[in-house]
Amino acid sequence: MNTIVSVSWEKLPLELLQLADPSVTMIQSYLQTGHCFALMQQEEYLGVMVLAEQRPDQIEIKNIAIAPQHQQKGYGKQLLLHALHYARTQQYRSILIATGNSSIHQLALYQKMGFELHTIRKNFFLEHYPEPLFENGIPCKHQVVLIQEINR
Ligand code: COA
Repeated sequence: MNTIVSVSWEKLPLELLQLADPSVTMIQSYLQTGHCFALMQQEEYLGVMVLAEQRPDQIEIKNIAIAPQHQQKGYGKQLLLHALHYARTQQYRSILIATGNSSIHQLALYQKMGFELHTIRKNFFLEHYPEPLFENGIPCKHQVVLIQEINR
């Protein structure tokens, strides 16, 4: 039995946050002002998620990660459903998530969960990250923004 709890930012393990975002500088830029959630099984952190308001009517999933040994068991979907529920109950009109052009499984998951392709921020990772990033044998250069409309 696991449970999603709202926690203060200091409680989120950095090693889990870094699975989703290799830049500690980037993580620090949204962590303290974000709404932080942990997926817990007793004392164990199965996953983490950080949401942050982008505009008065839009919230963004800034970080979502499941511990490697617990991936592909449905926990990522569970956290995404929680984010959608939170956004709906807080009266946001849309929810945004951004990922890399090379994040094939994430792009599949987010679209299965109702997010739609919105924008490509060309060269985002080349400009904001010091080291070249690769995933699935693909250079990660561009950021893909997906949005789901809610409360319409
Ligand atoms: N291979 C194939 N499909 C995968 C996959 C993989 N390695 N990882 C995720 N998926 C997709 C599938 O589409 C699957 O859909 P299905 O159930 O219809 O087959 C779905 O995601 C599985 O969902 P779930 O088990 O809930 O995913 P998860 O618990 O592994 O969580 C992530 C997904 C992305 C949060 C998790 O893999 C993770 O933490 N990855 C590292 C950090 C990261 O990339 N965060 C997102 C940054 S934008």
